[in-house]
Amino acid sequence: METLVVDHPLVAHKLTTLRDVRTDSPTFRRLADELVTLLAYEATRDVRVSAVTVETPLTPAQGVRLSRPAPIVVPILRAGLGMLDGMMRLLPTAEVGFLGMIRNEETLEASTYATRLPEDLSGRQCYVLDPMLATGGTLAAAIQYLFDRGAEDVTALCLLAAPEGLAHLDGMFQGSSRPIRVVTAGLDECLNDQGYILPGLGDAGDRLYG
Ligand code: PRP
Repeated sequence: METLVVDHPLVAHKLTTLRDVRTDSPTFRRLADELVTLLAYEATRDVRVSAVTVETPLTPAQGVRLSRPAPIVVPILRAGLGMLDGMMRLLPTAEVGFLGMIRNEETLEASTYATRLPEDLSGRQCYVLDPMLATGGTLAAAIQYLFDRGAEDVTALCLLAAPEGLAHLDGMFQGSSRPIRVVTAGLDECLNDQGYILPGLGDAGDRLYG
């Protein structure tokens, strides 16, 4: 598994305001949206393209277009929905599939309550959106679900990640032949006893949607 912590002053600036307890929901939603677009730029570095020739007003030019089939963007409900528009801005032709997952706040176990994705994901590149990678249980289950349907590779975009969550994913998918990447705006210190990322930004779902 590959982890990329995007090191950029604009990303750091927006993340700092997201963390601030005084940031209200409308501002939080706008900043999350902008941050995702910046993360998406890095996260799509390996998106498949095909060579094409176009006619400029003067002469033919070699270029590329996104390959078919289109990538699939998978927001994890509910908080991942706050990242969808920012991602689609860069990948407007992507298909969108939905995974509804919730973490039990006592046991910290993730469970799936809704799925709306193509049955067959063979050969598809998948981009999972979830703001928080805490214990990693939710993302691990989402990745396993996509691989079970044949996904070729999975890139997760997270606003924040905890070392415990990354270690969990590493252990779970060690030896996997299919690539997994995590692209995040910040790698925080640890989890607290309730499984919240520290220093974190609180509960992303609540800050986005109340
Ligand atoms: C949060 C977050 C992740 C998950 C992370 O969602 O958005 O999906 O918890 O935790 P984990 O890495 O320990 O599994 P939550 O279950 O609160 O649902 P919500 O998006 O509906 O608020």
